[in-house]
Amino acid sequence: MLNIALPKGRLGEKVYAMFEEAGFPCPSIRENNRKLIFENEECGVRYFWVKPSDVAIYVERGAADVGVAGKDILLEYEPDVYELLDLGIGKCRMAVAAKKDFRDDAGQTLRVATKFSRIAENYYLSRGRDIDIIHLNGSIEIAPILGLSDVIVDIVETGTTLKENDLVVYDTVVPISARLIANKASYKFKSDAIDRLVAEIGKSTEEKQ
Ligand code: PRP
Repeated sequence: MLNIALPKGRLGEKVYAMFEEAGFPCPSIRENNRKLIFENEECGVRYFWVKPSDVAIYVERGAADVGVAGKDILLEYEPDVYELLDLGIGKCRMAVAAKKDFRDDAGQTLRVATKFSRIAENYYLSRGRDIDIIHLNGSIEIAPILGLSDVIVDIVETGTTLKENDLVVYDTVVPISARLIANKASYKFKSDAIDRLVAEIGKSTEEKQ
């Protein structure tokens, strides 16, 4: 049985559709209820819905053999897992944004509000820029408006949240998309099933690109 952690939500539904198309269906998952675990013994798969930011934890610790996580989560938490495939969905970017009138003063420590402290630290470290990280858990965009920070490092997808809060992008830190990840031991002991999954999903992502 292959245990698969899916990120709950819109992205997860797209991901499941890919797995289904790749020959790993589990029809009961489409029944709209509050269940979190779904099994198809015939196909040898067990899916479970978890919070997107928790997928890597399940996979790293072996509760799931494979899962799908955003590159943002992988860069931020650096879980000890294999990254097998870029699924080409859930595309967005990690960006630095600020108020329109923001001017960077290199003589001052830059105050950076973010949910992604490690990504922000690495980005500014590579630029030799002194920063003060203000770690927040959400609604990052209001930090510069209220004077809590000079800039934010956050995910930008459509750009609507920035626009509606009068912020603009100053730089792209890294492009983001959903990745198929695997537990290291599972990849050794269930290599046939995982390789088949990677090959079949790889085919359908190539066709779409
Ligand atoms: C994410 C991100 C931005 C927004 C970007 O927030 O942190 O706020 O989406 O999307 P857009 O460019 O399409 O507007 P999320 O919905 O995860 O909420 P939170 O960060 O406030 O928790």
